[in-house]
Formats: sequence, C-alpha cells, structure tokens
Amino acid sequence: MRKALVAGNWKMHGRIEQNRVLVDALLTQLSGLPEADIDVVICPPQVYLAQIKTLLQGSAVALGSQDVSRFAADGAHTGDSSAAMLNDLGVRYVLIGHSERRHEQSETDEQVAAKIASALLSGLTPIVCVGESLEQRESGQVTDMISAQLKGALSSLQRAEAEKLVIAYEPVWAIGTGKTATSEQAQEVHAFIREYLSSAFDEDLSQSIRLLYGGSVNSTNAALLFEQVDIDGGLIGGASLKSDEFTAICRAAALSTING
Ligand code: 13P
Repeated sequence: MRKALVAGNWKMHGRIEQNRVLVDALLTQLSGLPEADIDVVICPPQVYLAQIKTLLQGSAVALGSQDVSRFAADGAHTGDSSAAMLNDLGVRYVLIGHSERRHEQSETDEQVAAKIASALLSGLTPIVCVGESLEQRESGQVTDMISAQLKGALSSLQRAEAEKLVIAYEPVWAIGTGKTATSEQAQEVHAFIREYLSSAFDEDLSQSIRLLYGGSVNSTNAALLFEQVDIDGGLIGGASLKSDEFTAICRAAALSTING
C-alpha cells in the first residue's frame, strides 16, 4: 500500500516573520495526524530553507526544495544550488520540472533529466512534475504530452533509480486558476502514468511509485481527488500558505491511506 504524501509548494511567497507564524500554526494543527498515514513536505523558497529547517526540527514534516541545479559537481554555476548542498542543509525532496520553471525558465526535458540524476546522486527524492496545457487538452493531446514528458524525464534511469521517484500530475490549466481537474480527469491521467511506468519498467514499480495531483487543490475538493485509486496525495500551491487549508488537505490524504 502506498502511503499518502502531501507537499506544499510555497512558490515565491514568504517573509521571515510570516514563515515562522505559518510553520508554528501548521505544526500545531498537524500534530494529531499519525505519521504512519502520511508524509508531509514543505517546499519554501530556497533562501528560507535554512530558516524552515530550524522551525521544523523535531517534527515529522520534511523539507523540500522547489528546484535544484542540473550540475552535480561544485563549480562556476552562478545562482545555482546543488543537490549535495541541499542535502547538506537537510532537504529531503525536490520539485523538478514544475510547469512554472518549464515555462518561465524554458526548462527542457534534458535539463529535467539532469536534475533528476543529480538529485538522486545526493539522496534527494525528486518530485517530477508533468502536465498538459489547456490547448493540448482541448486538442486531445493529453497522453501524448504526458508520455513525452515522462520519456524525457525517465528514459535514462535504471529501475533502482526510477523506483525512488514521486511523480506529480499538474495540468497547467488548473494551476492557480481555481479550476481543478475533476476527479475523473485526474484519475484518468494518473492511471495512464501508471501504465506508462509499467511498460517502461514493470508492474511492481508502477504500483509502488507515489503519484500526486496538483492544481487548485483545496480543503473542499481534496477528499474526492485523494479517494481515486491512483492518486496518492497532492502538490499544493496557494492552499499551502494557509495552515487551516493545508492541514485539512493533509487530513484528507491521511484518511485515504487509512481507507486504502
Ligand atoms: P495551486 O495549488 O496554487 O493551483 O498550485 C499548484 C502547484 O503548482 C503546486 O506545485
């Protein structure tokens, strides 16, 4: 059985005092949730990773980064933080290939693959993001797009590497728009991702990898999404900045682990 995972992607939000208040509230509210039922991850902006690491000390909430350098070795890469540096700081998960990075930073499938390799080399768990645009959905290209992104991200991985991944399906048209995919739409793509993993690797791997849904998840729609057989949790943007909302989403995910 796959354990639920909920990751909060703060994107470019936060200030030192605001972060402290949010994490304090979160830790209080999350304290009733059994660790056996859910993994919770917080991905703040990189400049605040050290602060959040300190705030999370002694709790079961893990630290995640929103990005990682594609270069594994130290060197002349101005502005980059390597996977080894993130690991050094206590980071355990890293978002790779988020659609905002693919679009705003023109991140390519090759770069996504290099970042995954670099993260794995330093023992970080990549949360690999894939998802189609509205135009692609409307023109019937959802599975083509998802396969192309998965192929770009996974084709150079050995099975033992691939089994360490988490994959997040985030339809671009649902991100920050308040327009969530229906549970049927999300389940359909998650099932497709499992089929892809099964043919690229094998059925065991496909059944063991955790698949998250992201895109306008909130406390109202989370339970129905997480009830779907192939959805193991969520990658949460806006709602991760509100402790009540985020906690309710985590609770819905933990319940889905309990209910199978
Ligand atoms: P929203 O939850 O704000 O739609 O963002 C989703 C997302 O991009 C998480 O990575």
